[in-house]
Amino acid sequence: MSSKLSEIKHVAIIMDGNGRWAKKRLFNRIKGHEKGINAVREVVTAGREYGLKALTLYAFSTENWNRPETEVKALMSLLKNFLVNERNELNDKNIKLQAIGDIDKLPEKVRKELEITQDLTSQNDQMVLSLALSYGSRDEITSAVKKIADKALSGELNVSDIDESTISGELYTKDLPDPDIVIRTSGEIRLSNFLMWQAAYSELFFTETLWPDFGKEEFHSILKDFQNRERRFGKV
Ligand code: IPE
Ligand code: IPE
Ligand code: MG
Repeated sequence: MSSKLSEIKHVAIIMDGNGRWAKKRLFNRIKGHEKGINAVREVVTAGREYGLKALTLYAFSTENWNRPETEVKALMSLLKNFLVNERNELNDKNIKLQAIGDIDKLPEKVRKELEITQDLTSQNDQMVLSLALSYGSRDEITSAVKKIADKALSGELNVSDIDESTISGELYTKDLPDPDIVIRTSGEIRLSNFLMWQAAYSELFFTETLWPDFGKEEFHSILKDFQNRERRFGKV
């Protein structure tokens, strides 16, 4: 059975290729990240128009901390500006913003703007926009395991009662449905530590388009393609 557009609840995107976009134009990598913000805006607006309940964007991985300090600083500053500049519009569009990842690692200035934006939009219910920041699936699963072990040790939880929902319930994404679709731009065919538990049955889409060139037309055509895919979930 094929699915309808209205059945797509959650789309997650690995926004990749900003550096290569810039390099092709002999620009500094940072220019690519700046340009990538326009694509973020466009995809958020389109996702809401398509009636998605959740859109998750991989913006900064746990491994991205290993990039040169100047690039990390520039990314943090772009992130901060994004939060300051976009929060009112997100709020007007009834979008709730949340961050998933090891947020304590982010610079204080970014955390402050995140908190303001999260507070401002916390009651919104049209769509949840999750920014994956300092996010890594292995890190997420490791901290879930620690929390579950603590509960088992304190007697709050019986080991025999641990099931898949116990684990899902300790992930950063605990309030989100699993993604129906995971998209990666820039031609790389890997997950790079993104939503490895949650994407167990997601439909994966890889496009050669570099993130700054990704827009609503291509987004829409992926959602249309999804409708022609058959999701069997292990059944016949
Ligand atoms: C994605 O673009 C943005 C982040 C990972 C922060 P890249 O910066 O990875 O761009 P490429 O892959 O080098 O082209
Ligand atoms: C994945 O992209 C992380 C984000 C898009 C935020 P990377 O560019 O960091 O991934 P690799 O290094 O190509 O696997
Ligand atoms: Mg990359």
